[in-house]
Amino acid sequence: MIIIENLKKIYRMGDVEVNALDGVTLDIAKGEFLGIMGASGSGKTTLLHMLGLLDEPTSGKITIDGVDVGRLNDYEKTQFRLYKLGYVFQDYALVPDLTVMENVSLPAMLRLDRTEEQTHAGSFEVLQKIGLCDRRDHLPRELSGGQQQRVSIARAMVNKPDILFADEPCANLDSENSRLVLDLFKEINEEFHQTIVMVSHEDWHKDYFHRIIRLKDGKIISDGSNGQSA
Ligand SMILES: Nc1ncnc2c1ncn2[C@@H]1O[C@H](COP(=O)(O)OP(=O)(O)O)[C@@H](O)[C@H]1O
Ligand SMILES: [Mg+2]
Repeated sequence: MIIIENLKKIYRMGDVEVNALDGVTLDIAKGEFLGIMGASGSGKTTLLHMLGLLDEPTSGKITIDGVDVGRLNDYEKTQFRLYKLGYVFQDYALVPDLTVMENVSLPAMLRLDRTEEQTHAGSFEVLQKIGLCDRRDHLPRELSGGQQQRVSIARAMVNKPDILFADEPCANLDSENSRLVLDLFKEINEEFHQTIVMVSHEDWHKDYFHRIIRLKDGKIISDGSNGQSA
């Protein structure tokens, strides 16, 4: 599903060069729930941004579903993101002035192949899934952090993307809410066979992952199935 070949990302700031990714090669299978772990600054977010087409690598190649994404133009990339990819961020990134329902509907509204009824029905369905239908007319600030993160997961799910990317989605949550969020990912993964790539630096999260890769200084230092050497 995702093939990553010798991926490098160099950030240049004045005279200083940071090798944020230093030759990452990796295949991610369809339906895999992959955890990317490693210390702060090891390149986790950078890798996720490259895979999610949110930023471009300095060199190397990413193939998603047979498409060499480095060859897409900006318009094609936007379409690819809209139809195939979903994102969950650490800080939820909800639009503060829109209701829960409107936030969840946003990605669906951007698609030209959906009628208003389909958008509404689809948003309702994912809100049901996360158990927050009764909060649909509330604003994000009227919800707890855990509820906001579940709304952001619903938003990421509304277009039924093939791949869900999540960057430390539990970083601002207590362990009970973290568990709710992780259980939701697990359920989504099992029910829809959605590929999930999640960054985490909490050790106990690893029980949820099928496979864990660990990064250090922009390189993969271990890659293993859950319960094995990773
Ligand atoms: N936009 C940027 N400009 C310059 N350096 C960056 C930028 N983003 C990340 N870095 C650097 O790249 C390295 C990897 O960062 P990052 O991918 O955010 O790590 P992680 O998510 O594992 O904490 C770090 O040394 C960081 O300082
Ligand atoms: Mg990060």
